[in-house]
Amino acid sequence: MAVMTLTRSTIGKKVIMAVTGLVWIGFLVFHMYGNLKVYNGAEYFNHYAEFLREMGSPLFGHLHILTILRILVTVAVLLHIWAAVSLTRAARNARPQNYEMKRLVQADYASITMRYGGLVIALFLLYHLAHFTWGLIPIPGGFITGDAYHNLVGGFQNIFNVLFYLIAVAALGLHLYHGTWSMFQTLGFNNQKYDSTLRGAALVLGILMFLGFAIVPLSVLFGFVKLPLQ
Ligand code: HEM
Repeated sequence: MAVMTLTRSTIGKKVIMAVTGLVWIGFLVFHMYGNLKVYNGAEYFNHYAEFLREMGSPLFGHLHILTILRILVTVAVLLHIWAAVSLTRAARNARPQNYEMKRLVQADYASITMRYGGLVIALFLLYHLAHFTWGLIPIPGGFITGDAYHNLVGGFQNIFNVLFYLIAVAALGLHLYHGTWSMFQTLGFNNQKYDSTLRGAALVLGILMFLGFAIVPLSVLFGFVKLPLQ
């Protein structure tokens, strides 16, 4: 019954969006921070990538915790997209006739950036997994399983890859800004007294995530992060 209320009502879907969004914020903060280990060199970075696979050892076996986390973020992103599509449809049905002149009021602007931005991020995510996890996109020197540093540095030799990553992480920064702010509203932090503080916190998160992610491909492109013996 509680699950049905969650999946059927508008507020239930918004709660699903907020909670699944929060799961991704948690993942992204750690991922962004983890990426900055490229500045410590190949050995350190690969050691960290290996740690991710061995997490929980010796209690848990190879890949166990990572697999649980992978399932969690996959379920979260699928539910997030499902709730977004479902809320968009409901909003459209509630307003059947098109406005003669569509007013781009603030709410429309935000929801348009969220929808198209979300689509860019989803496409990026598939490309990113194909690039660095599945090794399906050609990179100079070839994809080497277990050498995340080599794959990362090779991947960003290509300026088009760097540009695509920059566009995606800019979309991500905006998405996190609007999304975190909406999340605060949904989860009940809507005392007007704290509005500007919460908006500020959402903005800081969006900007930090954009800068923290963007700096890595740019550092490779401009030669600050190189392959060993290059
Ligand atoms: C410039 C920014 C980014 C860089 C340099 C980067 C780098 C990497 C690398 C090197 C891996 C492979 C790690 C390994 O298998 O050893 C990886 C995996 C991954 N990245 Fe990113 N990433 C970036 C941005 C993002 C963003 C914005 C997202 C999400 C929107 C994301 C989501 C993921 C996911 C889901 C994985 C797979 C983790 C796993 O299942 O093992 N990454 N990333």
